[in-house]
Amino acid sequence: MEKVIILDFGSQYTQLIARRIREQKVYCEIYPYTLSIEAIKGNSTKGIVLSGGPASVYDKGAPQIDAELFRLGIPVLGICYGMQLMTSLLGGTVAPSKEREYGKAELKINDAYQIFAGLNKGQTYRVWMSHGDRVEKLPPGFMIFAWSPNSPIAAMGDLKRGLVGLQFHPEVAHTEIGGAILSNFLFRICQCQGSWDMRSFVESSVTRIEEEAGRERVICALSGGVDSTVAAALVHKAIGEKLACIFVDNGLLRKGEAEEVLSLLRDSFHWDLHFVDASREFLSRLKGIEDPEQKRKVIGELFITVFEREAKKLGSVRYLVQGTLYPDVIESVSFKGPSATIKSHHNVGGLPERMHLKLIEPLRELFKDEVRRVGEELGLPDRIVYRQPFPGPGLAVRVIGEVTEERLRVLREADAIIQDEIVKAGLYRDIWQSFAVLLPIRTVGVMGDERTYEHVIALRAVSSLDGMTADWVRIPYELLGLIANRIINEVQGVNRVVYDISSKPPSTIEWE
Ligand code: XMP
Repeated sequence: MEKVIILDFGSQYTQLIARRIREQKVYCEIYPYTLSIEAIKGNSTKGIVLSGGPASVYDKGAPQIDAELFRLGIPVLGICYGMQLMTSLLGGTVAPSKEREYGKAELKINDAYQIFAGLNKGQTYRVWMSHGDRVEKLPPGFMIFAWSPNSPIAAMGDLKRGLVGLQFHPEVAHTEIGGAILSNFLFRICQCQGSWDMRSFVESSVTRIEEEAGRERVICALSGGVDSTVAAALVHKAIGEKLACIFVDNGLLRKGEAEEVLSLLRDSFHWDLHFVDASREFLSRLKGIEDPEQKRKVIGELFITVFEREAKKLGSVRYLVQGTLYPDVIESVSFKGPSATIKSHHNVGGLPERMHLKLIEPLRELFKDEVRRVGEELGLPDRIVYRQPFPGPGLAVRVIGEVTEERLRVLREADAIIQDEIVKAGLYRDIWQSFAVLLPIRTVGVMGDERTYEHVIALRAVSSLDGMTADWVRIPYELLGLIANRIINEVQGVNRVVYDISSKPPSTIEWE
């Protein structure tokens, strides 16, 4: 299968480059820039992209690559730092710009060379720049393709060798001609076919899973979330009833959630689904615990115990399906190294080792939006495919402080109202997550002629691409008012609602 390899030099946009390439139906993978030439060579590599990065090519310790890369006969696109590295390795020069360029810049192209095919010579295009260094002298054999007021060499290349450098970022939305440029690189210069889509992904995954695990018993911990359900659906398509799914109700799910997921999957898809109600066990273990990390730890450990107990009933099992996604994979191989643990999100870490299970992770090459498209391709209902992400420890990290049955009841009722109104307003799919948080304080209110002294609900709604960064959603005031009104009137024990207007960073999405 044809693919493009992106070598990561630490740009904040590396994942975005991958998405943009995949949108053109070309499969691509991100690797740290230290990937060996041996691993890059091969018939299936149709092109290489060198990402941007924060370093300066002449810095001591700046990321370097072997110049052999440019002699493999595989086209290379260098973006920002990638272009500067290409320049310095091939005999040109790079120097600090007198004027740094950040943000919008005006690009003029000298001619509609292959990389600018379809664009007009002399016309000004808006592009996005973010650089301190610039190319001062071309490497031998290179030509200038485009310029901007502060970058006399804003695009360059040697098309005979398939080498192109761009000072600006074609992957960001502010570069209005970015899609056209990437498409020219992929289809005109790399000669890609562009046949990668979700249908072909499903077909090849199903074959792979069948070959690997077709004769074995496979289990999956199903949460009803998009990732685990789509992963299970793929495996089910491959091996049918050899897959058993275990759904653990930990007592920390949203209102009606367990019933809804079970009926959606059991009735429509005839999966071998095992339901375990372990809510009492979880709630009694959480008694008295206030610390968020401690809650996560207790929930994670108990989950493993319960899951293992249930799995034993199924007899001998060899494989475990997990809905790991590409961002998790890149994160763990990223050249920056695994990021610091701010919250321990690995809810079931250790499960495969403890149960001696091999992993099947059919989604480890995909981004979340691609997983949703696979879910649609597999015929899963919208209620699952477009479900907002929900944390493994569930409502436990949304009841601030100790988790009790009564607090969960209050939170569930409030949360259900939020979901209901967000869905009715047609906003559910556009919002990454919208939910209620129960605060461990009480405030004074007045209902009828009575003084009240009750709980506060915080409403949180964020937009995000991957949960790594997020912004609060500008929900219309009318809707905010409606939600607050309903919660205070309908949920016993609440007399105040506040709206969380913090972004991530510096806050996080969940309150704990
Ligand atoms: P934060 O709160 O760190 O959350 O901004 C980022 C995303 O991760 C989810 N989240 C979790 N998911 N186990 C999970 O599976 C966890 O312990 C956990 N904590 C947060 C959160 O809902 C958001 O989508």
